[in-house]
Amino acid sequence: MTQDAYYITTPIYYVNDVPHIGHAYTTIVADAIARHQRLNGRATHFLTGTDEYGQKIERAARRRGLEPGALVDEMVERFRHLWKRLAISNDDFIRTTEPRHHQAVSRLFETIRARGDIYLDRYRGWYCTGCEAFFTGSQIVDGRCPEQGHPVEELEEESYFFRLSRYQDSLLRHYEQHPEFVRPESRLNEVREFVRAGLRDLSISRTGFRWGVPVPGDPRHVVYVWFDALTNYISAVGYGSDPARFDRAWPADVHLIGKDIVRFHAVYWPAFLMSAGLPLPRTVFGHGWWLTAEGKMSKSKGKVVDPVPLLARFGVDPVRYFLLREMTLGQDAAYSDEALIDRINADLANDLGNLAQRTLAMVHSYLGGRVEPPGDRTLRHLPEAADLADTARRALQDYRSRMDALEPSSALAALWELVGATNRFLVRHEPWKKTAGEADEARRAAVLSAAVEALRWVAHGIAAAMPGSAATLLDLLGFAEAEAAAPYDALRWGGWDGPVRCRKAEALFPRIDKDAYFAEPAGSRGGAGAPPTDSPAGAAPSAHERSRMENVPEQVTIQEFQRLQLRTGRVLEASKVAGADRLLELRVDLGGETRTIVAGIAERYAPETLIGRTVVVVANLKPARIRGIESQGMLLAASLDDKPVLCSFEEIIPPGVVVR
Ligand code: MSP
Repeated sequence: MTQDAYYITTPIYYVNDVPHIGHAYTTIVADAIARHQRLNGRATHFLTGTDEYGQKIERAARRRGLEPGALVDEMVERFRHLWKRLAISNDDFIRTTEPRHHQAVSRLFETIRARGDIYLDRYRGWYCTGCEAFFTGSQIVDGRCPEQGHPVEELEEESYFFRLSRYQDSLLRHYEQHPEFVRPESRLNEVREFVRAGLRDLSISRTGFRWGVPVPGDPRHVVYVWFDALTNYISAVGYGSDPARFDRAWPADVHLIGKDIVRFHAVYWPAFLMSAGLPLPRTVFGHGWWLTAEGKMSKSKGKVVDPVPLLARFGVDPVRYFLLREMTLGQDAAYSDEALIDRINADLANDLGNLAQRTLAMVHSYLGGRVEPPGDRTLRHLPEAADLADTARRALQDYRSRMDALEPSSALAALWELVGATNRFLVRHEPWKKTAGEADEARRAAVLSAAVEALRWVAHGIAAAMPGSAATLLDLLGFAEAEAAAPYDALRWGGWDGPVRCRKAEALFPRIDKDAYFAEPAGSRGGAGAPPTDSPAGAAPSAHERSRMENVPEQVTIQEFQRLQLRTGRVLEASKVAGADRLLELRVDLGGETRTIVAGIAERYAPETLIGRTVVVVANLKPARIRGIESQGMLLAASLDDKPVLCSFEEIIPPGVVVR
């Protein structure tokens, strides 16, 4: 790889489902880092793409009555479209169904086989189609995979194996010598533990289905989807087709991935590469998960946040900013619409937006819209402006080094030091105050000139995170939008061509009215409360609409069902609701939290008989006021002769356990 080149990748995403905000997150972070490295002046290559083979995709297609090829062609467009909307600047997009990829997978397989690292045997064990991963019997928990809780199937078939066990020592040595190979450190420790515990040879082919790259020389087998998928990182840069290009581009600087797939990238992938005699990527960075109340956001588990309505509602750059700023790369973070709105209002609308708007308004009121560059002349009138220049240099330097270190959240926090300092600078020098004479006027012009310059520096600083807003801000300040793409090193305090003419003040980031937002029905808001928007606008009627039209019992998908959170509860207190014959007010322990629930069960149950009883509670039902009492959930009961019989268990179950 050449000296100043920089190669960054995202995972290639499975196309069995539409992208959600978790996928968007990885891609936005990789995009911001790629843009940042371009602004550092490095010849950057940014790759993303789609993982289109495997049993999961084949089954998803079958469920929809489609050929797998038709499904992937349809779904890949969702990803491409979303990346376009999110201003993702990828240089290439690889699909594993492309010939260039097949060629590379075959080449890698053959090279590893020639090394003596592949042999034919029988695989006996378990397979998780959700993770596309093999597990041993002892790893399975209640018929589910240990990693994500997906259902698993028992498998016995002929398979090619990769001698992973041979690479245990080499891998451990590599982690020792290159601790930056797996980041953050906590992930490195997990990986090291996993490898130290002993590596079994890895099954790398399947015979039970056809949707994959055929094993070279043995088309009864298709290559295991992870062997195939990991190869994308080299097939996209010429492995097996353009050796000169491959030598220039490989190894990658960063594989940015979620922590769910670290093992594949930090154990299997380097072992394949070692076997093939290829250099290893410099860093595998496993970031944390965006969580909702139910845990990791994932389609199979129910609740996901669809980015599309968020973009329509809040704009691309505010969503990008929120995701980059809110999560410390490496740790988990909780997603909520409220956190998103608070972040937009505080950092963008208040801090930066107001600063820009106030500065532009004053430039127009006091200077007729024209601003001189800050320099020796303005410094004579305002020597303190030198401090602001120092702050700008320091903030941008801090921002850059943190971005270099893959810390976008703290990088943006460092940049916002400059926003805060400029706000304080205005407060201290009060350019809005009445002036008395020319010296005062000149001093005011110097204050505004320094503020405009600080904003120009902020615009350069936000160019990787919010490219559209960086260009707009520069344009408002009177500079060319294209300046946003200039390398950081070209930036000089006061280095303007001449005076600039600012545009009229305009809200760069409109403030979101939080109360009005939450007063809207959840379905029309987008965001965390909205149902996923799987079907494009104008598509065929939904299942719900169809069943209403045809008057048949409506079917729901498993995902729809899983949106309900059912949990066991223990009744702590029960009393009659005054003036209501059928209602009881209960206090129910949900395992760490106590809820008040008003239930229409008084006709069958006397309050004192319920104390200590285990019930099933719909835990994520919207609270409702019943007879002036806020009921925070609902009990499940059979309706026998129109009277409720509470659901109960034969075993003793503690409170708070999920029922599904
Ligand atoms: N196809 C494999 C990857 C192969 S890479 C050679 C795959 N695809 S995926 O569609 O399931 O995408 C997984 C990636 O999406 C995660 O590694 C992570 O980067 C991102 N995320 C999915 N859910 C996420 C969250 N809830 N939070 C943050 N990122 C998440 O695995």
